[in-house]
Amino acid sequence: MEAMTSLDFENSFILILLCIFSTFFLFAFFFKKPKNVFDLPPSPPSLPIIGHLHLLFSTSLHKSFQKVSSKYGPLLHLRIFNVRILLVSSASVAYEIFKDHDMSISSHGPIGIDECIVFGSSGFIKAPCGDYWKFVKKIITTKMLGPQALERSRGLREVEIERFYRDLLDKAVKKESVEIGEEALRLVNVILGKMSLGRSFSEEERVSEFSIEIAALTQKIFLQQVLRKPLEKLRISPPFKKEVMSVSYRFGELLEKIIVRYEEKKDEHEGSEIMDALLAACGDEDAEYKINRSHIKALLAELFFGAGDTSSKSTQWAMAEILNNHKIFERLREEIDSVVGKTRLIQETDLPKLPYLQAVIKESLRLHPPGVLLPREFEQGCKIGGLYIPKGTSLVINAYAVMRDIDSWTDPDEFRPERFLGEEDARREHVLNFLPFGAGRRACPGSNVAYILGGITIGVMVQCFDWKVEGVKVNMEEATGRAFLALAHPLNCTPLPRILNILPSNL
Ligand code: HEM
Repeated sequence: MEAMTSLDFENSFILILLCIFSTFFLFAFFFKKPKNVFDLPPSPPSLPIIGHLHLLFSTSLHKSFQKVSSKYGPLLHLRIFNVRILLVSSASVAYEIFKDHDMSISSHGPIGIDECIVFGSSGFIKAPCGDYWKFVKKIITTKMLGPQALERSRGLREVEIERFYRDLLDKAVKKESVEIGEEALRLVNVILGKMSLGRSFSEEERVSEFSIEIAALTQKIFLQQVLRKPLEKLRISPPFKKEVMSVSYRFGELLEKIIVRYEEKKDEHEGSEIMDALLAACGDEDAEYKINRSHIKALLAELFFGAGDTSSKSTQWAMAEILNNHKIFERLREEIDSVVGKTRLIQETDLPKLPYLQAVIKESLRLHPPGVLLPREFEQGCKIGGLYIPKGTSLVINAYAVMRDIDSWTDPDEFRPERFLGEEDARREHVLNFLPFGAGRRACPGSNVAYILGGITIGVMVQCFDWKVEGVKVNMEEATGRAFLALAHPLNCTPLPRILNILPSNL
């Protein structure tokens, strides 16, 4: 998931490092291009040694890729040093790949730093689609993220959503402004803490801070992954390993404390289905797959990292779009008022009856997917579009470009939620044009939770408050160099209480 990043490579240090590195050390190794004995997809003109690296510096990586593909085509073969990359930017090619070759591309690519707590060798995201992945996938689906598990944990989310409403109301009464992304992240983390550990994190358990620290290092983890083989050949120690591992060790220590506390206090609180299942498997000689403590810590770290930032960023983007489009805000509010009324707070069970709210969330994910790039690796050679792709080739699906592909979306750069109310459905045959959660067997297992959290958070903010935005309009500029696509500027605005007579609940 690390290369789902909006890497921008503006960091001149990295550029200089790469240039010096390539000039002095790599010539002998990489001047020879990978042997093209196959009929490969087209490729833009490349430079000696660095290949197409120079094409990727103009702006964020997803936009650089988009620029290259709009000039040279939706299926391209690129080379960075001697790393071969297949770049896909259209819905029809994405469809062909996932329909015919999902098994061949079910790996998220090589590991940069084995010991790292996220994207490392004990984790879930980089695990091959083998016994370990199947075992953990079954546990997270049945005990936390699947429809039945979600139904069992609905009550705990309801309590937190009501608390979220009360906090916003308190700020509204005091006329305090809030940063939407921060509020959403706090809510998501409390809910995820409860869903995975049966309780929220205490103040000193700075889980979300660690997730943010790790997110800031994703560029370096990614670079480490790309340079790993050449560096190993040259026996050069990885340049960013120390920095990455310092965060990783501290995160690991914190998670160890959290697990120990969970075990000690197990009899005092309800616990959680997923932790109980993981801990039981950890000590069980006869378990379907023998997992250890490192597996549990890595899974928790990846769940918190992969879920918190993505979910809060998508809520922030959706609110930014809604606040910039008064008509959309009004239509959303009318829909919620007509289904929910004005005397009770919107609930999860209302969401299926709110198609426009769902369409707004989907449209926002289409234009602003937190994971802009989907990195995979070809574990077997295969033919795509009649051209041969050799085993070991890296695959990058530019989800950002696919979801703005003019051949499968009308006015692709416009925010028009109506398109998800059936208008463009007829055009979706034989294309895979909506990829915010990836696709195939490695698609995001948390998409149900993401839709619930997004729907209910935005629902509360629209149902119960008017919003005063700082400045005339929200600035929709994208940040560069972040792990997940983010607004360049914080979304600060002030909630104004709407006259509602929300019934007191059991809080
Ligand atoms: C708006 C919110 C979210 C977005 C946009 C998102 C997006 C993604 C994407 C694009 C992938 C890679 C898919 C692929 O390679 O095809 C992914 C994987 C993953 N996501 Fe999410 N995600 C979100 C929320 C969540 C949540 C709430 C959870 C869990 C609580 C979660 C857990 C995971 C996990 C465990 C993986 C790795 C799956 C595997 O390797 O098999 N995500 N997510």
